Amino acid sequence: MMLRVPDPVSVLPLLGSLRKGSYNRMLLNAARGLAPEGVTVLEAPAIGGIPLRQRDGFTGPVSDLVDAIRAADAVLFVSPEYNYSIPGVLKNALDWVSRAPEQPFRGKPAGIMGASTGVVGTARMQYHLRQVLIFVEALPVNRPEIIVGRAAERFDADGNLTDDATATIIRDYLAMLGDWTRRLSV
Ligand code: FNR
Repeated sequence: MMLRVPDPVSVLPLLGSLRKGSYNRMLLNAARGLAPEGVTVLEAPAIGGIPLRQRDGFTGPVSDLVDAIRAADAVLFVSPEYNYSIPGVLKNALDWVSRAPEQPFRGKPAGIMGASTGVVGTARMQYHLRQVLIFVEALPVNRPEIIVGRAAERFDADGNLTDDATATIIRDYLAMLGDWTRRLSV
């Protein structure tokens, strides 16, 4: 049984792009600024320094990530789609965390969003991610899906989200993730 979640709900982002100028980083920055009262979107932990998984050894950046996930009330995946699926850097981090003692994704409320330059807006990555989340027993919000296609048209040169409809759905989604987290935590 989970403990009651104090206000505000803390949401740990897991960012699937390491790219300078990443649209998903821009999307996450927008989400942090749009978070409604009662929801705090934290800084994304650096997952690029996590070694490729070979054998157990939950030290350094891996144990930092495990601790951060444990401490957060919910997680928020913000990721591109690579070749119709989850970018390797994010999958590697997931694979590490999935084998930590008292696996921290079990029962963890989760949100998913992603931006791509194409029109499909990470939908295929999101379905692959949902399959992984079944096995690790995370509890993702099912609907709506935050699929941000044609990202280059939705952010300005400084990385600011300029599309009002996208801003509205992100704000509503974070409010829903906050409610979902509270409902699962009583
Ligand atoms: C992509 N991109 C991409 N886009 C998409 O909609 N579906 C896909 O399957 C892929 N596959 C893919 C593979 C690889 C290796 C790269 C580098 C790119 C394009 C992708 O949407 C685009 O590069 C985004 O800008 C990546 O997100 P960030 O890094 O801007 O957050």
